[in-house]
This record gives sequence, structure tokens and C-alpha cells, in this order.
Amino acid sequence: MSPMWDQPLSLNKAFPFFSLSLLQTQVIRSWYSTSGLPNHGVIAAKQPFKVELEMNKPYTWCACGYSRKQPFCDGTHNSVQTKMSPIKFNVEMTGYTLLCGCKQTANSPYCDGTHKKNWVQQASLSTCPSRS
Ligand code: FES
Repeated sequence: MSPMWDQPLSLNKAFPFFSLSLLQTQVIRSWYSTSGLPNHGVIAAKQPFKVELEMNKPYTWCACGYSRKQPFCDGTHNSVQTKMSPIKFNVEMTGYTLLCGCKQTANSPYCDGTHKKNWVQQASLSTCPSRS
């Protein structure tokens, strides 16, 4: 028999008590991947913000929903428990656009119409709605 260090490392051989089922592995993965915080910000408004943006000027859209300068970031995400970070963007043409106020859009920073869904309209402001 060859010495132990010549054999490939096997977790089950090294730690016979360490055997996880697929379900246990998925549960542990979800603990580490979600950190208990939602993947979207809280609802700042139930409609988009119509704003005039200047070509090539840098903007920072609030993704967490806590900013007092909606729809733009005021740095509040640094002092609240959120895993959301603001989105930096600029536009290629000066003009009006609709920036998401509900913070549930799939096309941030722009409104994609998600705010019209019942689960957004029926939720309270400053909460993170359940998507059902
Ligand atoms: S305001 Fe958020 S999708 Fe329209």
C-alpha cells in the first residue's frame, strides 16, 4: 500500500463524518450566497422618475431605495444594511428618460414597467416586496 500522501485527497476518507446530502449542500450554498439580504432595493416610489439627463455627464442611480435624493444616490447605502450598490451610468443624448423608482426593475437604472405589477403596487413604500 502506498503512503497516504501519494493518494488523491478524498474528503470522505479524511473526514468520514463529513458527508453532505445534495439538499444539505444546496442549503449551505444558499446561506452563503444570499447573506439574508434581498437582491433588490426597497420601494422608493411606485412610479418612475422622469428626469432630464445631460449627454456624457456621470450619474449615479440609487439601487438600495434609501436615498433622499431619488432617483440618485446620496450615499445612504453605506449606513444601512443592504447588499445593493448604486449604478453609475451616463447617456449618449441629452433628454428626458424614466429612471426606476420602485428599485425592482430588471433593466437598472431604467424603468422596465415592473412597478405596474400588483406585488409592487400593493407593497408599502420603503419595503422590499415579495415577488409573487
Ligand atoms: S419604476 Fe421601477 S420598473 Fe418602473
